[in-house]
Amino acid sequence: MADGPWDATHALLAEAAARRDDPVLAPPARPRVGVDLGTASCVLVVLDDDDPVWVESVGSGALHDGVVVDFARAVATVRDLRDRAQEALGVELTSAATAYPPCIPVADARACTYVCEAAGFDAVTLGDEVSAAQATLGIVDGVVVDVGGGSTGVGVFRDGALVRLEDRPGGGHHLDLVLAGALGAELEEAERVKRERPAEALPILTPGLHRIAESVRAMTAPAPGSPDHSELPLHLAGGALMIPRAGDVLAQYLQRTVVTHPHALLITPLGIARSAP
Ligand SMILES: Nc1ncnc2c1ncn2[C@@H]1O[C@H](COP(=O)(O)OP(=O)(O)OP(=O)(O)O)[C@@H](O)[C@H]1O
Ligand SMILES: [Mg+2]
Repeated sequence: MADGPWDATHALLAEAAARRDDPVLAPPARPRVGVDLGTASCVLVVLDDDDPVWVESVGSGALHDGVVVDFARAVATVRDLRDRAQEALGVELTSAATAYPPCIPVADARACTYVCEAAGFDAVTLGDEVSAAQATLGIVDGVVVDVGGGSTGVGVFRDGALVRLEDRPGGGHHLDLVLAGALGAELEEAERVKRERPAEALPILTPGLHRIAESVRAMTAPAPGSPDHSELPLHLAGGALMIPRAGDVLAQYLQRTVVTHPHALLITPLGIARSAP
């Protein structure tokens, strides 16, 4: 049971996904840029007003759990992404929005801004990733669960307002570690099996998915200053739960409603761009 009609949101996500291979190669009248500095990948999204025109994603290895561990590499990655978008679109991109995972120290969050500034953006706005995901999904009563490469971010929304925000380690990289161990394979091979033979990977990954589910349970259970949110539907964002039927595993294990969205790994990057002024 979703709490709204998702057709428009899903069409927007499909449009963003299509722009990766088929960009709109014309100068946007009102460019809005989002930079998602992820553990697994850095994504640059350019909107023309609200319409996706350019989406590019590259692996960087410059961040771990939202923390910039290799500043120079992160800057070079974002600079390259910006250069390619500018060249292709024929426009100078002077401002950008970026985002940090919830609950990291302020200094680490600011590093995301500095990376974008050093990469050539003059004006950079900074938000948190869960609010960015919400800018795409527009959830009224529900929980955003953003499971990326390194961590699981959870934002609880009631009446459209963010009432609880938390992030814990655990994501797609940890699933790869489990799969690599079980298959006696390298991490790269595990990642390939996970994407290309998901039905084979799922039983091996189910305990790992249960761990992610436990982490979500803990982040939505009653806590000092926060009531119980365990009846709210979970909305899956981020790449790590894009394994077919992973949502069913969470729904069954937690006995709660899970809503999956197509192109889930674009939900946060798209929302970052949508939160750009
Ligand atoms: N089709 C797929 N099937 C399964 N897993 C996938 C698929 N596509 C991507 N992933 C996984 O999603 C993860 C990356 O997701 P995402 O791009 O949301 O992470 P990130 O934003 O870089 O990381 P973080 O938010 O933790 O900093 C990787 O672990 C990758 O293995
Ligand atoms: Mg992410």
